[in-house]
Amino acid sequence: MKGGHRPRPRPFVHVNCAISLDGRLAFSGGRRAPLSGPRDLARVQRLRAELGAVLVGVGTVILDDPSLRVHWELLDGPRGADPVRICLDGSGRLPSDARLLDGSQRTIIATTRATHRDYPATAETLVAGDGPEVDLAQLLGSLWEAGVRGVLVEGGAHVIASFLRASLVDRMTVYVAPVVIGGVTAPSMAAGPESHSSDEWVELLRESVEALDDGVLIRLRPRRPPAGSPPSPL
Ligand SMILES: NC(=O)c1ccc[n+]([C@@H]2O[C@H](COP(=O)([O-])OP(=O)(O)OC[C@H]3O[C@@H](n4cnc5c(N)ncnc54)[C@H](OP(=O)(O)O)[C@@H]3O)[C@@H](O)[C@H]2O)c1
Repeated sequence: MKGGHRPRPRPFVHVNCAISLDGRLAFSGGRRAPLSGPRDLARVQRLRAELGAVLVGVGTVILDDPSLRVHWELLDGPRGADPVRICLDGSGRLPSDARLLDGSQRTIIATTRATHRDYPATAETLVAGDGPEVDLAQLLGSLWEAGVRGVLVEGGAHVIASFLRASLVDRMTVYVAPVVIGGVTAPSMAAGPESHSSDEWVELLRESVEALDDGVLIRLRPRRPPAGSPPSPL
């Protein structure tokens, strides 16, 4: 690349989520909604295993307390390596008794220079940016250097919005369940900055649509591929 600036290598980023027909990620107040059917759940386990790392925001940990482990019993074939678990925690809100701090598999807490917090020794910390939010490009560069080649971003609404707005998404899968949650406070698929016109929305291209369980699975990629987009590790 003569004279050019080579982008810092980063892992492949796949965003996955399940939503209701009205685009909600959860019930009012953020209470977890069982939107996926059995085949979709197995698909997500396979993605976790294949990508090698699973990432959520601290909001999801506080509300859902996910283990982020692979439920190998839902998959055919032998048990593989457990993925690295990653949590974005810009202001040190991660509960000390969160299940992802149980020490059962490698776990990274992504923080910022503004995070003043001691974490249990069961997790590594990785500082990315000055805060208040974790700098996603810096984080991905550091994860690449730590040997991570793929990241499954599972949510929630703020984290999905941040990855999309930062053009750091290489593939997205959305499972749409045939249910309506309704109301005005249930979180939608993406939070973050408001859009006032089509200049501000994030455009994706549909790759495929598949009937799955009682709903549909939509596979998408960005309309404008991100600079330095790495190949899929799958
Ligand atoms: N249906 C699904 O597939 C699915 C999957 C996952 C989650 N969910 C739902 O999503 C909801 C939680 O979503 P949420 O929006 O409240 O929380 P979230 O996106 O999980 O976490 C957001 C928090 O992460 C921290 N953060 C640090 N750096 C960030 C960055 N660069 N970008 C964005 N966030 C950053 C911020 O907290 P600090 O300022 O404290 O650092 C922020 O408030 C829950 O209701 C959960 O059930 C649904």
